[in-house]
Amino acid sequence: MAPVPVFPINVGHIDDVQELRKAKPTTIPERFVRDVTDRPKMATELSTSTDIPIINFSKLLKGNPDEFHNEILNLTAACEQWGFFQVINHGIDLSLLESIEKVAKDFFMLPLEEKQKYPMAPGTVQGYGQAFVFSESQKLDWCNMFALGVEPHYIRNPKLWPEKPANFSETLESYSKEVRKLCKNLLKYIAMSLGLKGDLFEKMFGVAVQAVRMNYYPPCSRPDLVLGLSPHSDGSAVTVLQQGKGSSVGLQILKDNAWVPVQPIANALVINIGDTIEVLTNGRYKSVEHRALTHKEKDRLSIVTFYAPSYETELGPMPELLDENTPCKYRRYNHGEYSKHYVTNKLEGKKTLDFTKIQIDNSA
Ligand code: OGA
Ligand code: NI
Repeated sequence: MAPVPVFPINVGHIDDVQELRKAKPTTIPERFVRDVTDRPKMATELSTSTDIPIINFSKLLKGNPDEFHNEILNLTAACEQWGFFQVINHGIDLSLLESIEKVAKDFFMLPLEEKQKYPMAPGTVQGYGQAFVFSESQKLDWCNMFALGVEPHYIRNPKLWPEKPANFSETLESYSKEVRKLCKNLLKYIAMSLGLKGDLFEKMFGVAVQAVRMNYYPPCSRPDLVLGLSPHSDGSAVTVLQQGKGSSVGLQILKDNAWVPVQPIANALVINIGDTIEVLTNGRYKSVEHRALTHKEKDRLSIVTFYAPSYETELGPMPELLDENTPCKYRRYNHGEYSKHYVTNKLEGKKTLDFTKIQIDNSA
């Protein structure tokens, strides 16, 4: 197969939002100013929906049969109606959440020259920089990213694991182990919430691919003109998002055509369904579009883990979930190809899923 041509435009010094913030320009550079229709809408146009669902993980891990059953029902509703939920009592040591937050923040606070020792190479999404930028005309997000492949080991690029801060690598290693367990459990309960065998996804996925992306959003003098992160759905099976303590409220999810802000809950983790689960469930569980906004005075940090099938995995709607009344909405595909497609296209809502969508002809 011919290699996919990718020409990421390297984001230079003046496009690094932390450096921009330091320089305090009186106007926002053009490349960050969104077209009017893409700008954050002000509070009046926000959804009035209340908070996203909360799942109490301890009821799933060690609840009595009634508690377990009820929480599985809550999970079904959360996945069907929201595609997003917050997990409390997830069992990950809070000190570990604090440590990962600290090393992530310390990394972003390093001088630019130090961070640029780990540049995001053309055609990849690992390292420091802005991912998903493919043309000079594309608008940039008000965000600095640092992304690393974690598991399996062959996806790692050891040259990108930073020497500073000193305990970065070991902290990420311990954190990722715990998050991996959480993801495996999440997928087990998600399978059960669909009436399927708990080990179904684990068996189907092989050695799951796990990657982390740390996002740092400095304050922005004109949060009404820019986006912290463009609207997108995640190319994962599930995503685990940790919001930094004291961060501004920035994450929003699209529900019924309105943006719903995700209010952080102390020590909780935000979970969302990714594209893989949408396809496997033939759209019953949705990979919901989301974005991040910036704040005038406050900064924001998020640590995001993407958990996905091994690249060899062949995916498509599961026969168990199809019946004669629901047409099959997605074609079968190889997850490695999907991943490549995902990382070589700009973030644009749910567009990447077109890769697998079957166009249903309603004219007949
Ligand atoms: C992501 C993402 C949102 C956030 O990294 O895919 O959706 O709040 N991040 O940083
Ligand atoms: Ni996302």
